[in-house]
Amino acid sequence: MNRKQRRQLARIGPAPRKVSTPSHASVAGLFAKAFQHFQAGRLSEAMDLYHQALTLNPQHCDSLHHLGLIAFKIGRHEVAVDMIGRAIALNEANAELHYNISVVLTALGRYAEAASHSQRAVALKPDDAAAHMLLGDSCLKLEKLDQAVAAYRQGLALDPTDAEAHNNLAEALLTQGHPDEAAPHFEEALRLKPDIAAAYQNLAMIHFLGGDKPRALNVIMQGLRIKETPFLKTLFLDCLRYGSTIPDSGMLRHYVVRALSEPWGRPGSIAYACITLVKCDPRIKHGIDRAVAAWPARLSCQDLFGPDGLRAAGADPVLRALLQNSHHVNDVALERFLTMARSALLDAAAATPAAAIVDDATLTFSCTLARHCFINEYVFACSADEQAQVAMLRDQVVAALRTGDAIAASSLALIASYEPLYAIPESEALLARSWPGEIADLLLQQVREPLAERELRKSIPQLTRIDDDISLLVQSQYEESPYPRWVKYAPDEITYSIDDRMRRDFPLARYVPIGKVDRLDVLIAGCGTGQQAVGAARRYTGARVLAVDLSLSSLCYAKYRTEALGLDNIDYGQADILRLASLNRDFDVIACSGVLHHLADPLAGWRVLLSMLRPNGLMHIALYSKMARAHIVAARDFIAARGYRATVEDIRRCRQDILALDLDAPARGVVWSADFYTTSNCRDLLFHVQEHHFTLPQIKTFLAENGLALLGFEHDADVLQRYRGQFPDDPACTNLDHWHAFEQQNPNTFGRMYQFVVQKLA
Ligand SMILES: C[S@@+](CC[C@H](N)C(=O)[O-])C[C@H]1O[C@@H](n2cnc3c(N)ncnc32)[C@H](O)[C@@H]1O
Repeated sequence: MNRKQRRQLARIGPAPRKVSTPSHASVAGLFAKAFQHFQAGRLSEAMDLYHQALTLNPQHCDSLHHLGLIAFKIGRHEVAVDMIGRAIALNEANAELHYNISVVLTALGRYAEAASHSQRAVALKPDDAAAHMLLGDSCLKLEKLDQAVAAYRQGLALDPTDAEAHNNLAEALLTQGHPDEAAPHFEEALRLKPDIAAAYQNLAMIHFLGGDKPRALNVIMQGLRIKETPFLKTLFLDCLRYGSTIPDSGMLRHYVVRALSEPWGRPGSIAYACITLVKCDPRIKHGIDRAVAAWPARLSCQDLFGPDGLRAAGADPVLRALLQNSHHVNDVALERFLTMARSALLDAAAATPAAAIVDDATLTFSCTLARHCFINEYVFACSADEQAQVAMLRDQVVAALRTGDAIAASSLALIASYEPLYAIPESEALLARSWPGEIADLLLQQVREPLAERELRKSIPQLTRIDDDISLLVQSQYEESPYPRWVKYAPDEITYSIDDRMRRDFPLARYVPIGKVDRLDVLIAGCGTGQQAVGAARRYTGARVLAVDLSLSSLCYAKYRTEALGLDNIDYGQADILRLASLNRDFDVIACSGVLHHLADPLAGWRVLLSMLRPNGLMHIALYSKMARAHIVAARDFIAARGYRATVEDIRRCRQDILALDLDAPARGVVWSADFYTTSNCRDLLFHVQEHHFTLPQIKTFLAENGLALLGFEHDADVLQRYRGQFPDDPACTNLDHWHAFEQQNPNTFGRMYQFVVQKLA
């Protein structure tokens, strides 16, 4: 909540009166003069004269009042309370005095006293709208919501134009659990005063939770124009996450491109909505339809794109931002279009040797496609013919590098869309030549950065032995296929102390504060490619992070990106969780997400980590849910039966065969997972050398046996809302029996794993 308080002194007291006795006549004269100075803002002259008036008549109520007002204006709030309080003692029935002292007391945070004075002001002057609002403000602060609502309603009946009062009333109603009553007041507040940033946030959240995502999006975009808060950006992504029906508009496209490329969150999370937008362009849509209709046969450029589909695809900023920033194009139709576009461009180049890609739009599209293929690790289907054509192009480039002959930009773009440019022998020599901007970007992505990553291998220390059989198997998988890939990390703009963060994330949980601000020791166990380490290093005040993993290539990937982000509070090391206790270190926070289920004995690994957690320390865990992974088990059975190996070629083949299954085949359910759309992630999803699944009763038993208190699950707001609706007796959402029942009814609830935070009871 971010409600505005009324801090202005609305009343400056009565104008000087005519008086009859001589002594009072001079007091009146002084007061009149003082009043003139006061009104003109000459406060010290005014103060002198008010003091002189009080010397003549210490009971002069108006002078006391005005001195109080001046004290308030110059920031001496306690003096103001004293002066206005003395005036009230002389004239208890003056509504202005009560109103003004209430303003000062509110500014001092003395809400109970403020409320009693504004109540008196209202009693003395029931038609004073501002006094009702002031009463509402202090009641709101005191969390007396019924009184606050009543006061605002009375105030607004007298003055319906007070935007802040509408906003505050709406916040009170929202806190009371009446979003439908709150919404029109937020709307009215914004109509009257379009710059109340918090009102956009609240109103958008009401529409979002009410299931009206297009309306929520509209409010969010209006709010973003006023103030770009992290809250609105996150909610924007949440609205788009599930690909709800979205209205195509220039403004939406503008914010989508920014959300993808800055980025505001994980770009892949809004891929589906972006694809919906891309398909709104009929020229691109026709190409996609043609690709789907022809599949698996391939079309020529002309047949696929039509007269201007290629230009449209190259120029579409949403498609470009999506392909460059998200690994997931989790839409089979678009994947087929892109796969076919790649081979059509290759054919066109073969038909017109050398500079086949002549126009800018074609080169732009070709480079964008190549960047995407690199980050999805060349997961698209690829025929033997295509491989042979690319091999020829590669040989030409190698020869040109040796002879110094020219190399067509188009050739590099085409090769890069089938294999990484660093795989070209002597590829470093490409860096010495001059290229158009788009090719230079490709070389950065596919030659310069991988080289720099490899350079980091020597800089990462080995902290423990790695000799467990399963650890060695798992290590070899992630050496070849680091997981998960990421392009850019979303800026985490707010840094919290760990206690504030836990209170924010789990407001109703029984959390014991750990009071760490200056230095918070964090261990990321199984850090993979470093996203979690980066998140923790940025999110928590005083964080000092140790991030370990079995896989050196994952650690290099992580370290390269960490350095690029300018973070210096993360140390990376190669280690096996099973042997971590040999470090003799302990931590305030340990995160182990998506890792323990890959150990031979996950609970043994969890116990090692617990032995390194300080009393009251926090642990973030993510484990596979047995129920949510039923379709993965079906796909793994399919893979075992057909004998696919965990190679790039077999993963590509296997994907296409899964896509060809009947729509209702259980194994085909994996196409809904974002991990299906990149090679390493697909390997992690379907080809893992070792994985266990869990149930909530198992987790409950482990927590009880090991003195761990559940603070809560990390869930989207709408899941938590549905859970609370079903289990109102568990507002903190920590009852594992209830969650188990909820999961039975909603088997996909933990599709993204059981992700939760526990605290080690001291
Ligand atoms: C699925 S990835 C998750 C990466 C990261 N936690 C995340 O969520 O982004 C699993 C990671 O755990 C690592 N891992 C698995 N077993 C491990 C062990 N015994 N010790 C250390 N790391 C391990 C793997 O090398 C891999 O990088």
